[in-house]
Amino acid sequence: MAKKLAVIGAGLMGSGIAQVSAQAGWDVVLRDVTDEALRRGTDGIRASYDKFVSKGKLAADEAERALGRIITTTDLDAAADADVVVEAVFEKIEVKREIFATLDELVKDDTVLASNTSAIPITKIAAATRRPERVVGTHFFSPVPMMGLCELVRGHKTSDETLAAAREFAEGVGKTCIVVNRDVAGFVTTRLISALVVEAAKLYESGVATAEDIDTACKLGFGHAMGPLATADLTGVDILLHATDNIYTESQDEKFAPPESMRRMVDAGDIGRKSGEGFYRY
Ligand SMILES: NC(=O)c1ccc[n+]([C@@H]2O[C@H](COP(=O)([O-])OP(=O)(O)OC[C@H]3O[C@@H](n4cnc5c(N)ncnc54)[C@H](O)[C@@H]3O)[C@@H](O)[C@H]2O)c1
Repeated sequence: MAKKLAVIGAGLMGSGIAQVSAQAGWDVVLRDVTDEALRRGTDGIRASYDKFVSKGKLAADEAERALGRIITTTDLDAAADADVVVEAVFEKIEVKREIFATLDELVKDDTVLASNTSAIPITKIAAATRRPERVVGTHFFSPVPMMGLCELVRGHKTSDETLAAAREFAEGVGKTCIVVNRDVAGFVTTRLISALVVEAAKLYESGVATAEDIDTACKLGFGHAMGPLATADLTGVDILLHATDNIYTESQDEKFAPPESMRRMVDAGDIGRKSGEGFYRY
C-alpha cells in the first residue's frame, strides 16, 4: 500500500512538496485553510505537471496518475493516518506551534512530523508536542520540482530513527539531503546566504562596488548561478532581512547584523522583483 503524506499549507512550497511526492507514488492529502488557497495550489501543480509533460520529461498518464493521488481538504483531521506530515504554512512560529500541538493529538505514534521552516529552530516547534523526538526539519527549496536539495534539520531531541525516516522520504521524492546536526537559527543554507547577502549589501551601500559587479564577482569568481544581490531581489529583500534578523537575534553574531540600507529599502517598499525595485530596477 502506498504511504500517506499530509502536507499542511498549499502555498508555493506545500504545493511543490505535494507535487513531487505524488509523482513519487505517495498518497497525498493537501490541507489549507480555504478552498481558494487549495484551488490555487492544485492549479499550480497541474500547470507544473503540464510543463513537464510538454517538455517530454513526464508521461501524460503518469502526470494524471500523480494528480489523482492528491486530495485536498480544509480539515486537519485528514492528516490523522499519515505516515509523514510536512508543515509548510506561513513562517510564523505561533501558527506552526499550534499546528504541531494539534497534530500531536491526532496522528499515529510513529508518524514523522516535519516542518519546512527556513529559519525557525525546529526545537521550538517540537516543544509544542509531547513527542519532540518525532519532529524534524525538512527544508525544501523553491521551486521544489526543480531544486535538488533538502536540508534535514535535527531538533534538540530529534531521534536517529526520525532523521532516517525523513531522509528516506526526501530521497524517495528525488532530493539530495544535507544534515544540520545542531539546530542553529537559519540552519546551514539560510546562514550562508544571509552572511553573503549582508556582506554584499555592505559593500554596495559603502560604494565599494556596484550591485552588478558584486554579483558578477560571485558568478564568475565562484561559479554561483546567481549573485547575492540578484538573489535577494528574487527572494524578496524583506524576506531576507527577516531571516537575517532572526539569525542575528538568536546568535548575537555581528556578521548577521543587517545593514541599515537593507532596512531602509524595506521601509521604502523596495523589496526586489515583486515591487519592481530592489538592488536593481525591473
Ligand atoms: N518560498 C520559499 O522560497 C521558501 C523556501 C524554503 C522554505 N520556505 C518555508 O516554507 C513555508 C511556506 O512558505 P511558502 O512560500 O510556501 O508560503 P505561502 O505563503 O506560499 O503559503 C503558505 C500557505 O499556508 C497556508 N496556511 C496558513 N495557515 C495555515 C493553517 N493553519 N493550516 C493550513 N494552511 C495554512 C496559507 O493559506 C498559504 O496557502 C514557510 O515556513 C517558509 O519559510 C519557503
